[in-house]
Amino acid sequence: METPRFATLTLDDGRSIQLPMMTGTLGPDVIDIHGLSTLGVFTYDPAFFSTASCMSDITFIDGDAGLLYYRGYPIEQLAKDSDFIEVCYLLLNGELPSAAQKTEFSSLIKHHTMVHDQLARFFNGFRRDAHPMAVMVGVVGALSAFYHDSLDINNPQHRQISAHRLLAKVPTIAAMTHKYNVGEPFMYPKNHFSFVENFMYMMFATPAEDYVPNPILVRALERIFILHADHEQNASTSTVRLAGSSGANPFACVASGIAALWGPAHGGANEAALKMLEEIGDVSRVAEYVQGVKDKKYRLMGFGHRVYKNMDPRAAVMRETCHEVLQELGLENDKLFKLAMALEQVALSDPYFIERKLYPNVDFYSGIVLRALGIPTNMFTVIFAVGRTIGWISQWNEMIAEKGQKIGRPRQLYTGSPRRDFVAMTKR
Ligand code: CMC
Repeated sequence: METPRFATLTLDDGRSIQLPMMTGTLGPDVIDIHGLSTLGVFTYDPAFFSTASCMSDITFIDGDAGLLYYRGYPIEQLAKDSDFIEVCYLLLNGELPSAAQKTEFSSLIKHHTMVHDQLARFFNGFRRDAHPMAVMVGVVGALSAFYHDSLDINNPQHRQISAHRLLAKVPTIAAMTHKYNVGEPFMYPKNHFSFVENFMYMMFATPAEDYVPNPILVRALERIFILHADHEQNASTSTVRLAGSSGANPFACVASGIAALWGPAHGGANEAALKMLEEIGDVSRVAEYVQGVKDKKYRLMGFGHRVYKNMDPRAAVMRETCHEVLQELGLENDKLFKLAMALEQVALSDPYFIERKLYPNVDFYSGIVLRALGIPTNMFTVIFAVGRTIGWISQWNEMIAEKGQKIGRPRQLYTGSPRRDFVAMTKR
């Protein structure tokens, strides 16, 4: 048995406490500061630079080495040899499925892809030009109102049904969001398609034409979903966990995750990166734009990451896919793609970016691929949300199943006014 290890913290008044050290299967040791409140002090770590908020078996990241594992499997292997539905099974259940388990899971998810017909009425309440993420937050949250039969979060079967419903219905809602935005009729799912083919069908087909998915493009979207499926305790996943810690239902929790994902520092970066490329407009303006970044007028969207300080392993896979897709579509000479490659080269060789360890992240390349697939820019973050739903729901499920799970409740360092007496209006 391992000898217990401790870190000793001594305050300037001489009081001291021994804090247990915890060791995971991979990654740095963690100091358990639970007991610290007995000294009447808290820790201060506002953006969670040095704080683990939970224990998790799902995803491992090593930011310095550029590693990402789902349930121990390297992302590169999953992106190359697996498919999204298999990765979903892995994240949710902890192990890769057998052939029979995969078939059963895939069929189960397919049979949950339709949404209640009344849900379609929610769309009419939104302006036609509403941002698709605004619609997603509302309509996914509204699922809570349709599935009262599976909302007992302490019942593992209910949690499982909700997980399957979310995984199956979020893509349908995402595609409906697009159709509403462009004024085309909603397309009902078709069960003979694979998960990703079906999503493309609901996005791009119309009742007037037959739709045959292009396997290279399906594979590219499959990869985008795999690469975005989970990313340990990022902002949106932490939001889902915090919302879920109060006992809120999973549909509401995932809606809160979608809201957190929307921001440009997180999932909104793919949309922001493409808008940035459009704004730069031409290779000749790259140097001038990069100077603006160095002058801190704006950030280079699709660059940098809180955890990856060497290379985003998802970006390496996405970069390869980007070349494959543009070749398949004959778009290698596309103006925006050339511009992106020029920007990538400048940033990778400029000391400003090297010193700050700013490398292209997955969203720099995924935006270019999504654009090539014909997905409108305002849908990019929605695509991220479709891929990340399985991560949110797996992490939520892991948390709820934990023994002794408690509501998340951070503390603060109060910096406001000390106690003072109310002043009557006439005396102010
Ligand atoms: N462009 C220019 N400078 C940057 C960038 C950037 N994209 N990102 C960080 N910096 C600079 C920043 O100005 C600071 O410089 P200095 O030390 O001179 O003040 C330094 O790098 C550290 O920045 P930070 O804000 O402390 O870093 P962070 O870890 O808090 O931020 C980040 C991480 C992802 C929010 C940030 O890199 C960023 O805003 N990137 C652009 C948005 C983006 O692409 N986000 C997608 C992340 S990957 C998808 C996902 O998982 O959500």
